[in-house]
Amino acid sequence: MKTHTLLMPLDMHLHLRDGVMLENIAPLSAYSFSGAIVMPNLVPPVTSLEDVQAYKKRIMAAVPNDYFEPYMTLFYKNYDKKFLESVVDEITAIKLYPAGITTNSDGGVSSFDIEQMRETLEAMSELEIPLCVHGETDGFVMDREAEFMSIYELLAQNFPKLKIIMEHITTKEAVAILDKYENLYATITVHHLLLTLDDVIGGMMMPHHFCKPIAKRPEDLDALLSVALEAHPKVMFGSDSAPHPQHKKEASGCAAGIFTAPIALQILCEIFEQYDKLENLQAFVSDNAQNIYGICPEFKEVTLVKEEFIVPEKYANVVPIYAQNALAWSIESVE
Ligand code: NCD
Ligand code: ZN
Repeated sequence: MKTHTLLMPLDMHLHLRDGVMLENIAPLSAYSFSGAIVMPNLVPPVTSLEDVQAYKKRIMAAVPNDYFEPYMTLFYKNYDKKFLESVVDEITAIKLYPAGITTNSDGGVSSFDIEQMRETLEAMSELEIPLCVHGETDGFVMDREAEFMSIYELLAQNFPKLKIIMEHITTKEAVAILDKYENLYATITVHHLLLTLDDVIGGMMMPHHFCKPIAKRPEDLDALLSVALEAHPKVMFGSDSAPHPQHKKEASGCAAGIFTAPIALQILCEIFEQYDKLENLQAFVSDNAQNIYGICPEFKEVTLVKEEFIVPEKYANVVPIYAQNALAWSIESVE
């Protein structure tokens, strides 16, 4: 039976939520990943040292039996340097959301006035805190990410020492800008390596394929595949696995977010094998992220086997992508 082993898989963009949801889903990521960048868009968002420390404790309490490192983040505000110095040891990055652009982002940034952001972004550059960005404008939904490229350029030019991570990129425009600035990096989800808008609304409307940013055109999918499959050194895997209870997805107003965490590695194996690029998966799911973030996760070895896996109908009250469908790979062992 064909197997493939991954060392220290990392999920560089993950929503773990809080309360019962956290308790239900965190163990799933902790099983197959060594660590994850944990998003701060709780209600209310994570904005203080106390918030970060308390949230990390709740995460660790939810994953008692596995080794898993939650790399903590703060929700971007125009913080001053003194505050950033006080939190730098507790966080791995700061996540910036444009106000109101996605789930729980109301307290985000409403104007990209570089001068207003200068103190914070210069302090982050000095303290070597990466900036993770949800890069969408409030324009027409299919153009939001492409329109944001000028803001990425402005940030990259004004803060050349700041590591800027374009989160969950979905367009050929984002792929094209990656090599233009030394300080730009990107995460890519598993669902954006599979879906186009057709898979969301081209036939029956698929609530479990709906997320922000929305899946784009075939040429965008091709551009994402080209950098992911080559494990471009500035690109890393970040699932953006974003669980919502079933009743919030299968509703007249469907919440944005796709739940992929427990099956992400299995699906990635299938995609990389399909293109005969399995040898690059290790860099995409771990090595690149270790280099970019300068992190050194504890040892974990995940062996996948080419054996059919039927995706469960639900994990607790969350419906995953491809529920009840067969995947080609399953996880054989984790050590
Ligand atoms: C995320 C969520 O549900 O928190 N939703 C999503 O569609 N990706 C927020 C985000 O990352 O945009
Ligand atoms: Zn997200």
